[in-house]
Amino acid sequence: MKTIDELLTAGVDGKRVFVRADLNVPLANGVITDDGRIRAVLPTVEALARAGAKVVVASHLGRPKGAPDPAFSLLPAAERLGELLGAPVAFADDTVGPSAHAAVGGLEPGQVAVIENLRFNPGETSKDDTERGEFADRLAALADVYVGDGFGAVHRKHASVYDLPARLPHYAGHLIATEVGVLKKLTDDVRRPYAVVLGGSKVSDKLAVIDQLLGKADRLLVGGGMVFTFLKAQGYEVGTSLLQEDQIPVVREYIERAAKNGVELVLPLDVVVAPEFPDLRTKAPSSPAVVAADAMPADRLGLDIGPESRALYASKLADAETVFWNGPMGVFEHPDYAEGTRAVAQALVDSDGFTVVGGGDSAAAVRTLGFDENAFGHISTGGGASLEYLEGKTLPGLAALED
Ligand code: 3PG
Repeated sequence: MKTIDELLTAGVDGKRVFVRADLNVPLANGVITDDGRIRAVLPTVEALARAGAKVVVASHLGRPKGAPDPAFSLLPAAERLGELLGAPVAFADDTVGPSAHAAVGGLEPGQVAVIENLRFNPGETSKDDTERGEFADRLAALADVYVGDGFGAVHRKHASVYDLPARLPHYAGHLIATEVGVLKKLTDDVRRPYAVVLGGSKVSDKLAVIDQLLGKADRLLVGGGMVFTFLKAQGYEVGTSLLQEDQIPVVREYIERAAKNGVELVLPLDVVVAPEFPDLRTKAPSSPAVVAADAMPADRLGLDIGPESRALYASKLADAETVFWNGPMGVFEHPDYAEGTRAVAQALVDSDGFTVVGGGDSAAAVRTLGFDENAFGHISTGGGASLEYLEGKTLPGLAALED
């Protein structure tokens, strides 16, 4: 994989460089609530601008249906990018139309333009190679060189991620190079004990990675909504908790395989339950109670791991040389159910080992709960992408940068 360093050495002065970023940031009423992904691409954009490139930044945001939709405009992200760069950023209100051509055509060396959400064009996400290829051709007309730096989207076989690099000289940006370097440390030469903490709501999203990890990790700690399928698979009552009944046989097989492979599977000893799901908008006080994990009342739902479990999980992480964490332990958005996630984040902060926070909700949780990002070895910008990498899959956006 050629990296941006080679490109910078060769020189980019006056060249139009297309940077495929992942500016898919969370928005509340048009306001960005976590700009981590924008900050993550700054080193690449700044390096190119400093070297005199005309930088064209492109990304998706959310999942619009292949047509313009103001709710998914990239404008707030473009404005934030400009603030962080400390320089004006031109914004095109289309992707490959007259506005994009005017914005790019108007760039002087060292200046930056952002084009509108790539997913406003159906060609971006199309399953049809020809349709994607046609959109990629039109994107290619905007640039001389391609830099892939949208790590969070490399698992998507989309036009700007997969087809466009085939049409232009292509390089990996600083973010992708860093992210891949970290993931290699979790797969190729992992320092042991290697502990993995998995949370989040659906066990079905994590099955493939658990399958892989049962041959790689030394300890697997489970929390979040998915843990109730594990508890049920052990024959426990889980009340009205989130449950994927159809996954119970798969989970049962994983529990058996963990025992056979000597992988320590760590499940909660206690659970924070409530009569109903809390109001995340008002964050009004609810009625939490702690119960043993094998004695959940039938009319309660589990929303976090309990205090004994927090201590147990922290102890299982304390001497780990490598820790990968993906997925919150509970409904951390509400203060009554944030302690499990906080305890895991704190255990990573306290660890002397190499700690990696997989993107998505766990990265957002770390920031929302007020942790210093620098206290972690690495916070990935790609939740789905890093999980698929750990699953051993070929990621289209990385494969496209290989040759
Ligand atoms: C993400 O948020 O995981 C990435 O930006 C990819 O978004 P997607 O799941 O909508 O493809």
